Formats: sequence, C-alpha cells, structure tokens
Amino acid sequence: MIHTAGENVVLARGLIKRFGDFEAVRGINFAVRRGECFGLLGPNGAGKTSVVRMIYGFSPVTSGRLEVFGRDIGSGARKIKARIGVVPQEDNLDPELSVMENLLVYAGYFRLRKDQALRRAAEILDFMELAERSEEVVNNLSGGLRRRLTIGRALVNRPELLILDEPTTGLDPYARHLVWQRLRKLKESGTTMILTTHYLEEASQICDRLIIIHRGEIIEEGTPRDLVDRHVGKDALELGVDPVWRDSLAEGYGDLIKARQTLGDDLVFFSDYGKDLAEKISERALRQGVSIYYRRLRPTNLEDVFLKLTGESLEGGRVNK
Ligand SMILES: Nc1ncnc2c1ncn2[C@@H]1O[C@H](COP(=O)(O)OP(=O)(O)OP(=O)(O)O)[C@@H](O)[C@H]1O
Ligand SMILES: [Mg+2]
Repeated sequence: MIHTAGENVVLARGLIKRFGDFEAVRGINFAVRRGECFGLLGPNGAGKTSVVRMIYGFSPVTSGRLEVFGRDIGSGARKIKARIGVVPQEDNLDPELSVMENLLVYAGYFRLRKDQALRRAAEILDFMELAERSEEVVNNLSGGLRRRLTIGRALVNRPELLILDEPTTGLDPYARHLVWQRLRKLKESGTTMILTTHYLEEASQICDRLIIIHRGEIIEEGTPRDLVDRHVGKDALELGVDPVWRDSLAEGYGDLIKARQTLGDDLVFFSDYGKDLAEKISERALRQGVSIYYRRLRPTNLEDVFLKLTGESLEGGRVNK
C-alpha cells in the first residue's frame, strides 16, 4: 500500500460511481491535502453527493481507487469512519429525541464514556450556539436549528476530516455566518474539510482549493482566486441592451474583454482592462448605433466563473482568450 497519509487525506484516482447504466461519477482524480478545506462545486445532479458518500463509506465505489488516510475505503472503512465527521445533505437526526440525546446517542457509536460524552456534548452545544435548546425535541426545531445540530453532531468524535454536504442550505444569514466562522475555527485547529456547496460566497470564503464538477466530471480546479483570475478577470460589466443588439455587441471587443456571458436579459463582459472599461465600451457601442439601457461595473466573483463554465453561453460560443 502507498502511504499517502502524510500529505493526502483523500486520494481519488479514476473514481467511478454507477447507478445501473447511469454513470454519475465518471472517472475523476483529485487529492485533498491535510489541513485544507477542499470544495466541491457543481450544479444540481453534478455528482457531488455521490462523491462524498463514497468518501465517508456510505456508498460503495463502483471502480477506481479511493483512499482515505492512506487506506483503501473498501477494506479500511471501519477505521476510517472513526476519524471522520459527516454532515449529510439530508438531516438524519432522531426526531423523537432531544438535542442533547441526539448528541449522546451519537457519542455512543464512538464508545465515548458517559462523562466524556456529556462534556463533549456541552462543548458542542456552546460551539453551535444551541445550549438553550438542549432539552428540546428535534421534531420541534426549525430546519435551520436542525442543520446546526447536524453539524455539531459531526464533531462528537473530534474528527480529523470533516465532510460537509451543503452544510448551510436553508440557514438564515446569521446562522450561515456562524457556521462559516466555526468552520474557520475548526480549520485553524487543523481539521481537514471537504465541503460541497451551491453558495459561491461560501466556497470563496472557506475553501482553499476547489473542483467544479459538471455531469460527473471535473471541469476545473484551483484556488477560488485563481479560477476567478483565469476565467473572468477582475471586473464584470453588466449591460442592459435590446436583445437584437446583443450579437453585434459581442463582436469586436476582444481587445477589451476576456469573456462574455448572457445572464437573463443582461450581457456581461468580463475584463482586466481597468476602470475605463465602461466608458470604452459605451463609446464603441454608441459608434455602432447600439443603445445601452444601463450599465453596472462590479468586481467579478466565483459565481461568474461557475456560470461561465456550467451555464448557458451565447450562441456561437464563448469569447475565451
Ligand atoms: N441512488 C441513486 N440511484 C440512481 N441515481 C442516482 C442515485 N443517487 C444519485 N443519482 C443520480 O446521480 C446523479 C448525481 O447525483 P448527486 O446527488 O450526486 O448530485 P449532486 O451534485 O449532489 O446534486 P445536488 O446539488 O442536487 O445535491 C444525478 O443524476 C442523480 O439523479
Ligand atoms: Mg447533493
């Protein structure tokens, strides 16, 4: 066996997941390094949950290699599971039990002593700001509070690797920020994390590196900053123009823009040109006789990358340079 535990917490090579004839994960390769937060981004149905379920040993690998802590997930699952914490996409708390009981039952799976379990549960309730709800039955909790409890529960065994499948879906802004802050703390204390998300803001804030998955394949990987620089540059200029003019606006701007994208009725130019971009484009559009209803210059973000890579593009393809 190759000892990868020193650097790679997870190693996937040619990883495939099939459901019947359908290949949900199509031979992907990636490595998660110790101490980093590794993000999986992708639209609905891309295969994110299928990937993480294999990592936490819930769903068998169809083929390819998958190692966690340097062990094959097939033969080493029991030992691996003791060292990971899991926040599944769908909450699976016991609805009949109280918040505290849910944590204690879970601690039992890891054979914590009663006093240890109680101490750990109390710490977790504090950490997730749930202490006041300790005696409440899960059935009576709001969806957001359940999510926080599910995240807390994943920490019961002080995992070295925390796997979070859309941890903040359904959370209000306060709770989302609380979770982000807690995840950062866990990262600072050395926890490795794998996180799937639809919130690009979340990925930018927390992930050190990420992969973008589309239809079971990895279409991009890098740091959030790299991906933004590479694909969309610094600025996005949103332009409102009559759809009949959109195509003519798409021509002849190669010297100014890096890429473009339609977003609903808007046309968006991505560029590194600098602060005079809007003026330059407007001047040229005017000369072409195209009227622009409005324009808005804003910094680019990971969402732009995501849309450009997985979303609709203008007819005739993208202007990638
Ligand atoms: N148990 C299953 N049986 C058959 N097909 C499945 C099963 N689980 C997932 N799939 C299919 O595999 C593909 C990937 O699903 P998966 O849940 O991994 O996507 P995802 O990226 O997590 O999506 P979402 O963002 O909606 O959570 C989808 O087409 C889905 O319908
Ligand atoms: Mg999913």
